[in-house]
Amino acid sequence: MIILGLNAFHCDSAAALVRDGVLLAAAEEERFRRVKHWAGFPAEAIKYCLKEAGIRIGEIDHVAVNQDGNAHLLRKALYVLGRGPKSALLISRLRTRRRRKGILELIKDVDPRGSVRANLHHIEHHLCHMFSAYHVSPFSEAAVLSVDGFGDFSSAAWGLGSDGAIRVDGRVYFPHSLGLFYQALTQYLGFPNYGDEYKVMGLAAFGSPSYLRQMQKIVKLERRGFRLNLSYFMHQVEELPTQWTDGSPTFPDLFTPSLEALLGPRRSPSDPIEQRHRDIASSVQAMYEEAFFHLLALMHKETGTRHLALAGGCAANSVANGKVLRKTDYKHVYVQSAAGDAGGAIGAAFAAWQSLGGERRFVMDHAFWGPHFSMEEIRSCLSERQHEIEASHCTINVIADEQELCARTAKVIADGKVVGWFQGRMEWGPRALGNRSILADPRRADIKELLNAKIKRRESFRPFAPSVLDWATRDWFEESDPVPFMMQVYQIREDKRSQIPAVTHVDGSGRLQTVSKRANSRYYRLIEAFADITGIPMILNTSFNENEPVVCTPTQALDCFLRTHMDALILGDYVIERRDLSGSNESPMLGAAPAS
Ligand SMILES: [Fe+2]
Repeated sequence: MIILGLNAFHCDSAAALVRDGVLLAAAEEERFRRVKHWAGFPAEAIKYCLKEAGIRIGEIDHVAVNQDGNAHLLRKALYVLGRGPKSALLISRLRTRRRRKGILELIKDVDPRGSVRANLHHIEHHLCHMFSAYHVSPFSEAAVLSVDGFGDFSSAAWGLGSDGAIRVDGRVYFPHSLGLFYQALTQYLGFPNYGDEYKVMGLAAFGSPSYLRQMQKIVKLERRGFRLNLSYFMHQVEELPTQWTDGSPTFPDLFTPSLEALLGPRRSPSDPIEQRHRDIASSVQAMYEEAFFHLLALMHKETGTRHLALAGGCAANSVANGKVLRKTDYKHVYVQSAAGDAGGAIGAAFAAWQSLGGERRFVMDHAFWGPHFSMEEIRSCLSERQHEIEASHCTINVIADEQELCARTAKVIADGKVVGWFQGRMEWGPRALGNRSILADPRRADIKELLNAKIKRRESFRPFAPSVLDWATRDWFEESDPVPFMMQVYQIREDKRSQIPAVTHVDGSGRLQTVSKRANSRYYRLIEAFADITGIPMILNTSFNENEPVVCTPTQALDCFLRTHMDALILGDYVIERRDLSGSNESPMLGAAPAS
């Protein structure tokens, strides 16, 4: 049975293909369209999934979408009636339903030669989030929590995953939302773009939660959830966009002047960041954590399980996720690599699989479900661009022996250089996890400034992440539960922090990725080689991009390398390195390598 799962007309539009209960391919549309958080129909991602699996459109049995316009209809109707018949929200909902009817036709457009015979399933948004975490987790039983901005009229849902099924125990409905709270305060702090919440999370470590009392006026915890004080928010007064047909999703201001009366004037994006802003960021994070741990405690009481699976946009809050083991009775946490709305594509597919009687038989223990490119494709890309590469004073060599490739790359990194590392299948989800990564030496504090100034051009308060060999996690971090998808932040052991300043945040934390040989043997080998040279079993890992979606193809990787100040690019077995113009023309790395 072949199921195509979709997150369409929504932020982080994506497609995933599941055959007989096993994931074959998954990718976000932004990687193909080259627009961050692209939010239309995922035609290119569908094309890729079908190509990857060698499947034609007519072979798809079921299409599952992570949105159901009919979900919670009574609640929607009551809400709309309460606001009068002119509710823009009602019109918006009707539009949503009309568009959903066109999905099979849009799939047919992906391959006009084929015919579509699939059945279409609309599956409630948060159920899809919950399936996207629990169904692919290693847990037979788990408490499951989904928290986001909004989807299908609710913003949170929780319950128990057991024997492949999910029992929903509770929900928080529109207009109350932790995701919207965080997004509104992110706008207030001068970060206007969709997805900027992680900037506030990074800034929070520089402040103290001295505005927590004010935050508690905005978010009220209740016995079975939370409520927003709506006087601070616009979304229940004005229509919010709920779907987009292309481009980056945009939002109007979500907060009212009352928020400025409570916290002082908003920060504009060009204003300097003051201590007040850092303290507000810290207070926003503290309030989010209060509500998050309130929900986790409630769920633990109701489910009694020690396993926790998290999903929804708020599950990207790796700082809160990383405190679960310390602050609760849960012993193991699973957060899937695409925890946000993109992940709804696999959630929808697996929810459909389960509802059609399929067994649970797939654990997602790595994130490499995207496109890959052969050595021949890489060679062809390099040969087309050879003149440009030479004009940029770069050499090209090939090192076919993996051990030698890793040893030499590790040496370049240990020498303080910055390396683009492009291997195998692209990651599923927002994090680069060792196949589309920029790598550097975690021991050098100056690397952070260098990366920020010359390649990433991002805010100096944002931390860089370490990839650590799985067996060494306990030696370097205060927790050791696996973090394969960089979705948890742990405290770095105090005596180790000075050895890895480039990946130690101001509060002593690190947003780690634990790397296992099984999940990514080449990347594991590279870090091992770095440890052989330096005694440090980790490497600084940041996504391979420059203010754009993470690179997908060798050409995009080469473009990024050539327009930035990266020192070397490893494309599969190919090594492209800038000549050291100040001295010898032959770099020590390439001198001994066989020429291609
Ligand atoms: Fe969502």
